[in-house]
Amino acid sequence: MTRIITFASSKGGTGKTSVVVNLGVAMAQLGQKVVLLDADITMANLALMLGLEGQKTTLHDVLAGEARLSKAIYDGPQGVRVVPSGISLNGIRRARLERLRKVVAGLARKSKFLLIDAPSGLDRDAIVALTMAQEVILVVTPDISSLSNALKTKMVAERLGVKLTGVIVNRATGRRVDIPGDDIASTLELPVLATIPEDSEVRHSAAFGEPVVTYRSRSPATHEFKKLAATLVKASPAG
Ligand SMILES: Nc1ncnc2c1ncn2[C@@H]1O[C@H](COP(=O)(O)OP(=O)(O)O)[C@@H](O)[C@H]1O
Ligand SMILES: [Mg+2]
Repeated sequence: MTRIITFASSKGGTGKTSVVVNLGVAMAQLGQKVVLLDADITMANLALMLGLEGQKTTLHDVLAGEARLSKAIYDGPQGVRVVPSGISLNGIRRARLERLRKVVAGLARKSKFLLIDAPSGLDRDAIVALTMAQEVILVVTPDISSLSNALKTKMVAERLGVKLTGVIVNRATGRRVDIPGDDIASTLELPVLATIPEDSEVRHSAAFGEPVVTYRSRSPATHEFKKLAATLVKASPAG
């Protein structure tokens, strides 16, 4: 059974794309068949974080009905496969979101884990990314605005009937200003699956088009991403 997981948060900059990239590559390192789908079709940057930008055929072309899905799947680090979105305004205009369901079904056949990078906000593209998933993992930073936005995303996901698996707390500083993990869990009524520390190597590696899990194998964020990857793999029976 393929696990189709959307990583969401209504707030921008909480680290959805960073989590999808690093978790995906860490799972691929564990020998899993992983596909990453950039469903942030207006602010695409998943490919950029993997050094795969500037591809000729992207999700936009597939959603426009102008290219086959197989032409928009690229090989990334450690055997992870990636479906990037384009950045051209014309491509965004031509894309038909209703075609996404077929794309997701096609990718699910090719993978054990399909990780979907959702857009920020709660516009139609974000809602569609939520409905595509079997499960949603919220990515929050430990501050009040991120938490209150995540609560909104959670309510929308529940209304859509999508299962919420848990929350990833990202950019934790370990200082007293951080909302404690227990409070985040009780507010969202979801388990905290991982706490990823604020780690400057995440940003550095992204600037070089590399995930931190391959760029800095011993950095604190890498450690937590790998731990989470192992947990998710272990919780998902083979087959
Ligand atoms: N754990 C972290 N430590 C330091 N910087 C991070 C961390 N996670 C993400 N970032 C940085 O935060 C910014 C936003 O991350 P991004 O993944 O693009 O968020 P989103 O996809 O939710 O908008 C990027 O510059 C990224 O490098
Ligand atoms: Mg993003």
